[in-house]
Amino acid sequence: MKIKYFVTGGAGFIGANFIHYIIGEEPDARVLNLDKLTYAGNPDSLKSLDSNPRYHFRQGDICDPKLVEDLLVEFQPTVIVHFAAESHVDRSIDGPDEFINTNILGTYNLLKQARKLHEGLSKDQKGNFRFLHVSTDEVFGSLGDSGCFSEETPYAPNSPYSASKASSDHLVRAWFHTYGLPVLTTNCSNNYGPYQFPEKLIPVIVFNALDGKPLPVYGDGSNIRDWLYVEDHCRAIHRVIQKGETGETYNVGGHNEKTNLEVVHTICGLLDEFRPKPSGSYADQITFVKDRPGHDKRYAIDAGKIGRELDWRPLESFESGFRKTVQWYLDNTEWVKKILDGDYRLERIGLEKR
Ligand code: NAD
Ligand code: DAU
Repeated sequence: MKIKYFVTGGAGFIGANFIHYIIGEEPDARVLNLDKLTYAGNPDSLKSLDSNPRYHFRQGDICDPKLVEDLLVEFQPTVIVHFAAESHVDRSIDGPDEFINTNILGTYNLLKQARKLHEGLSKDQKGNFRFLHVSTDEVFGSLGDSGCFSEETPYAPNSPYSASKASSDHLVRAWFHTYGLPVLTTNCSNNYGPYQFPEKLIPVIVFNALDGKPLPVYGDGSNIRDWLYVEDHCRAIHRVIQKGETGETYNVGGHNEKTNLEVVHTICGLLDEFRPKPSGSYADQITFVKDRPGHDKRYAIDAGKIGRELDWRPLESFESGFRKTVQWYLDNTEWVKKILDGDYRLERIGLEKR
């Protein structure tokens, strides 16, 4: 079957990886990417698809009702994959407005327009139609020393970012129960891999290390995240679209719980191997800085449901995934250099006083 994917936020980190993945995976797939190109959207990440007749790009805002309605009517997607969001916790501390607009109101608008489209479809088309909402494990809040987030864990978001994502998850759920829109939601842990905007931990560490700058570790570096290679996340989304049960949510994670300090040491070790300094280790640049306000202590995903029911498992280990990722950034310094020539220069964000 020729599937038409209407992707939002496809010029961002995970969206761009997903578009490359799906175009490679499904020879007949067509993709329309609607992206506002905020600071985080980067058409360079999709440059190799510029002349591909199966890929189309439209710059625009998911909050714009007429634009979204017109594009849906014109493109007639089989599947909507909704990545578009403000995604950085530190930025949500300094300026929550855009998070409320895009993550909550934007998702609301997309649901409204998707419902209109869905109601006009034939019975067969309705059977195939899916709305996949890409969400985060941060909606569950913070864990203590033991236990994992399951699909039954109550929501307890702690940052403006995670609260806005939690709101969007609730709206998506309501559109299933109230209007019968065939939705699916994935709640994933921390992704790493190619094309990540250099405000997030992994690229921040790689590029500050190479520049000989301090490597900022928030607090004492003992906070724990559960790391997943981005292509494994893309495969999980694809699997959920193909086999997931509508109305259900699926947790996605890599079973790779690491303290931030362990992650930073891993990156420094790889840089010492790939690009040794004349003397000493990149780890000598590690600097402990003031903690993030409201910093969640630990995330860990129980990915048992998607494993059992949809037969998904991550293919990349922490070691192989980080090796590939650091190598990718070393091979693609131009991609980052162009970003860092703009407004953002790896400065600290998110220290708004409480
Ligand atoms: P990102 O910040 O790299 O990309 C977001 C993209 O959305 C950008 O291209 C941006 O231009 C676009 N966008 C923002 N506002 C828009 C609007 N109003 N209209 C249209 N486009 C808009 O984000 P990411 O890390 O790729 O995350 C993608 C999705 O996955 C988000 O919904 C995020 O909550 C979720 N998620 C991310 C992670 C992670 O580790 N990065 C983990 C789990 C879930
Ligand atoms: O868990 C999924 C979430 O993972 C996604 O929903 C978010 O979109 C994504 O940004 C990510 O959120 P985090 O806040 O966990 O990611 P970040 O890369 O900002 O930080 C990872 C950890 O590293 C976190 O504990 C804060 C810490 N940190 C971060 C930066 C940028 C540092 O110690 N130093 C830094 O410079």
